[in-house]
Amino acid sequence: SEAATAMAEGSPAPVLHPKLQPLAFMLGTWRGEGEGGFPTINSFCYGEEIKFWHVGKPVIAYTQKTWKAASGEPMHAESGYFRPTGEGSLEAVIAQSTGLAEVQKGTYDSENQTLELRSALVGNAAKVVEIRRSFKVEGDELRYTVEMGTHTHQVQRHLQAVLKKV
Ligand code: HEM
Repeated sequence: SEAATAMAEGSPAPVLHPKLQPLAFMLGTWRGEGEGGFPTINSFCYGEEIKFWHVGKPVIAYTQKTWKAASGEPMHAESGYFRPTGEGSLEAVIAQSTGLAEVQKGTYDSENQTLELRSALVGNAAKVVEIRRSFKVEGDELRYTVEMGTHTHQVQRHLQAVLKKV
């Protein structure tokens, strides 16, 4: 039927699942710039696009891609799913283009529009033992930081970025 075809093609826009209501502030396409560093590497600037969307189920789909600020050349990319697991709690699974896999667990605060995640599992990583991610939405701006701990270095900032809703 026409309705089935429309559903399969992802339109009309599905109704937001009630469990996602408190996380709706994350939804959308965001674009901006970030900077990266770590004691062991040269710091760098990058462009980034992030998409958070839903299909009517109680899970947010996530995809991200980055590029070199100077040349536009592709850099790191990743994608996954964010799932609320209870009031104020959520988990995420993220697959990185480098082959690394993460399971993240943490909390959200709808009032302050923040997410705080810490890795429960980091798989297939040569150096990384822990990853922490935090997000904050304020107006049309999404800010995040990524911290990591490696075999040789304590958990500290690797990335920070500011993106605007597009
Ligand atoms: C380096 C992990 C995201 C760009 C590194 C290193 C690790 C790492 C372990 C090597 C550090 C060392 O040698 O001591 C991660 C993790 C990420 C992440 C776990 C996400 C959670 C990103 C993103 C970008 C990026 C989004 C680009 C926008 C770089 C660059 C280097 C680097 C340019 C230095 C050169 C290189 O080793 O390739 N990252 N990274 N990383 N990362 Fe990331």
